[in-house]
Amino acid sequence: MSRWSVRVDPAWSVQAWRDAARLGLQHGVAPEHLDWLQEGHASLLDAPPLASLPPAESDGKTIPVPKSFVELASTCLCHSDPQRHALLYRMLWRIVHGERDLLTNPADPDVLRAMALGQAVRRDSHKMKAFVRFREVPGEDNAFIAWFEPEHHIVDRVAPFFARRFAGMRWAILTPTRSVRWDGQELAFGPGSKQADAPVEDAREELWRTYYANIFNPARLNTRMMQQEMPTRYWKHLPEASLLPTLVRDAGDRVQEMHDREAQAPQRRIPEQHIPLRGPATANGDSLDELRTAAAGCRRCPLWEPATQTVFGEGPRDAQVMFVGEQPGDSEDLSGHPFVGPAGQLLNRALQALGIDRSTLYLTNAVKHFRYERRGKKRIHSKPQVTHINACRPWLLAEIEQVSPKVIVCLGASAARAVFGPGFNLGRDRGRWHTLEDGTRGFATVHPSWVLRQPVGAAQEEAYRLLLGDLERLSTHAGNGRTE
Ligand code: URA
Repeated sequence: MSRWSVRVDPAWSVQAWRDAARLGLQHGVAPEHLDWLQEGHASLLDAPPLASLPPAESDGKTIPVPKSFVELASTCLCHSDPQRHALLYRMLWRIVHGERDLLTNPADPDVLRAMALGQAVRRDSHKMKAFVRFREVPGEDNAFIAWFEPEHHIVDRVAPFFARRFAGMRWAILTPTRSVRWDGQELAFGPGSKQADAPVEDAREELWRTYYANIFNPARLNTRMMQQEMPTRYWKHLPEASLLPTLVRDAGDRVQEMHDREAQAPQRRIPEQHIPLRGPATANGDSLDELRTAAAGCRRCPLWEPATQTVFGEGPRDAQVMFVGEQPGDSEDLSGHPFVGPAGQLLNRALQALGIDRSTLYLTNAVKHFRYERRGKKRIHSKPQVTHINACRPWLLAEIEQVSPKVIVCLGASAARAVFGPGFNLGRDRGRWHTLEDGTRGFATVHPSWVLRQPVGAAQEEAYRLLLGDLERLSTHAGNGRTE
């Protein structure tokens, strides 16, 4: 049996790999007789090129391949593993020679390997979306360049995300092996570049550092998790990274200071006069602003009294994705905005890791007042009761009606019960799609506060991965808040 050789060019091209694989299959070239050559390498065994075979006679039939394999192959091809072409060809060969359900066997070593490659590519893509930082090109108007060093061949895969997100800018992303430019109209790909071709720093970086230093919460510092989410290899791309050694070094002292400081007294009280409640029947059709104003005077349950203020939902009126939490915490109660405290920061980190833009989401809570117990000088979160959730539900329903999201993500059991009904069991139903009567789809996942309550270390990391894994479901939904 003769050996053949083939080169996929460019190495991540689905079309080029597919053409080669099709020719190999048509001529019955078994995987062990085909050398997949890497860039710059010749065939060790002097195998002639597969392309020298004549195109096989077509019987008009296409080779039927499951869609899931095509998707997996297009992701795996972006991996930098030199064995990926051969691996995928071997899998394809097995699929067309009787193992059609190959991908449903997660214990198969080829399937396992391909899944791992796919996951690594998706992770690298998320990192690129999160960590690319554009710098202004000096002397040019509205022109930006970013330098980035991905682990895999993901520039072509991720570039459309940046084109949609920064449609109105002229920009380029340079990497050591590939570059891409956007002129406001179309993407143009080119060869790799050098870091020296990208600008070094621009004025907005100081602003960004100031912002980062302000949102950094020393009490939540978990250097292992931080390095997992923001591995040190990406730090060179980030202006804020220069602050990290100092922030990390000083975290212990700052926590002690926070601990010693008295709990802040609420800064603003709800006015005493009774503002009539407009219930769901009258709220229908009202704008969100009117609802917000009405909810500010809500007295449907006793929680309003010790709370500083109503924390109503926030986000675009036409958001496609709505997140529902349980109730505001201490920081939210004081600031009047949802998800700004530690749980909100963890949520931000998860959204960023998944390339989801928080500003496209509508964030709200099942209960809109902070329920707490006072312990000494501290206000400790206390779970809302069913009566509080029920009393607040008209506001939530009115928000859902006004925003009319395509997808609702419930964080934690209280939110899930408020949205999907009292029979919802988070342990059993977590991460599963549900459809509401009006056709809106949704699912529930764990609450970020629950993640933060896990013991620091492996348990907390595992809990965070659970949250991330569930939120990944948004990627399969159109209009998911990702701008890809
Ligand atoms: N937890 C929630 O459920 N909601 C918030 O807004 C903050 C913390």
